[in-house]
Amino acid sequence: MSWRELYKERVMSADEAVLKFVKSDSYVVLQHDVGEPPALVEALVRNAKEFHNVTISHMFTLGSGEYSKPEYKENFHMNLWFVSGQTRGSIRDDYGDYTPFFFYQTPELMRDGTIPVDTALVQLTPPDENGNMSTGVSGDYTVQAIKSAKYVVAQINECVPYTYGGAIVNVKDIDAFVEDSRPLPTLPDAKIGPVETEIGKNCASIIRDGDCLQLGIGSIPDAVCHELVHLKHLGVHSEMLGDGMVKLFELGAIDNSMKQIDKGKFVFNFVMGSQKLYDFIDHNPDCMLMPVDYVNDPRIICQNDNVVSINGGLQVDFYGQVASDTIGYNQFSGIGGQVDFVRGACMSRGGRAIIAMPSSTVKKDGKRISKITPLLMEGQVVSTSRQDTDYIATEYGIVKLRGKTVKERARALIGIAHPEFRDELAVQFEKMFRTKY
Ligand code: COA
Repeated sequence: MSWRELYKERVMSADEAVLKFVKSDSYVVLQHDVGEPPALVEALVRNAKEFHNVTISHMFTLGSGEYSKPEYKENFHMNLWFVSGQTRGSIRDDYGDYTPFFFYQTPELMRDGTIPVDTALVQLTPPDENGNMSTGVSGDYTVQAIKSAKYVVAQINECVPYTYGGAIVNVKDIDAFVEDSRPLPTLPDAKIGPVETEIGKNCASIIRDGDCLQLGIGSIPDAVCHELVHLKHLGVHSEMLGDGMVKLFELGAIDNSMKQIDKGKFVFNFVMGSQKLYDFIDHNPDCMLMPVDYVNDPRIICQNDNVVSINGGLQVDFYGQVASDTIGYNQFSGIGGQVDFVRGACMSRGGRAIIAMPSSTVKKDGKRISKITPLLMEGQVVSTSRQDTDYIATEYGIVKLRGKTVKERARALIGIAHPEFRDELAVQFEKMFRTKY
């Protein structure tokens, strides 16, 4: 049978597809981020009463997370790999949980059966002349989920960019096609205030011509990009490709020419940003969307020289332990690819790994607290260990912790803490280390 006949035979409505291919007491993996298939998620929720104890897993969600609401707790159980505002409630209840692992390991955990994928719900481009479809905006674990799953349902969306690289599947790999084209979710431009601008400048102070960049999500990475416009021959090998990097390419700062692997190419694992970004990657021979076990594997990352990674954190203690995914006992987000890139950058010749964060935050009760503290708070877990931490940046400076003693680290961190807290932190230093600050 030709791929065209196969495709035609397998087209059905979203309701039909989920009722046929999602079973009670089974494990469903959703493509994540901009790649989440909204028509299939809506059908899952619409037909919730037909399901019992279906485990749902995914990394980051931009969707409504409706399935994680308490009214569906008999139908859906959450096993989340990254938590956000939409899904956080389920973790605090007994029908949701979080699994910590390194993002780059996801496909391997599917291959060896640790993540027992029964059904994969994905979103793809329409097939090309050979019946191949691109996963478009998210390489991640999508291809492996399709290979490992017993059943695969794909939303076919003409708005998904066809991205070259290693995230391509064929019509024969899919059990059901649901044709539903709608614009992809976009993110508004990040708000860059004076604090982010200063953090951006401090990070940029250690970035040089020819460096290979990984930047995370949000206003700080965007602020860093603003400070790099005067540089030349920068490269990109990044978990996420965002608008800031495309702007740097248009301004001539990024050309990927100095990379040791994938020279001349943007390499990334997912995109998140504006429609302009999605148009940029569409059929662009300079762009390589790859699975996460390529992009985020520290052993691959370090094959480029001068890798600079920039990621966020919630709190750092005097030892240099960084908490990025929990606040006290609460699972706030996930580590995503933070540790993958911290390690990859530190293993790269000339590499530098920066954790960048504002020096303080204002809590809901209006109280300002320091994000640099003697110890992490009770219940909080270490995301990036003190052995891994390299540079820490705030709006008051950037310090290198790698190679420093514990007391040297603490002194360096107090030096970039918010001025309001420095005296108190110095007192705590003397108490903790029984040494003059
Ligand atoms: N103690 C208590 N609360 C804190 C805190 C601390 N030390 N630090 C931050 N918060 C609160 C803030 O006040 C804010 O509260 P609000 O939502 O009520 O305003 C909230 O936590 C979020 O803080 P913010 O500084 O805005 O964080 P963010 O949304 O910019 O996200 C991370 C920062 C660390 C959560 C995010 O970068 C992350 O999840 N990183 C891990 C993943 C990663 O790095 N991936 C890399 C590849 S893309």
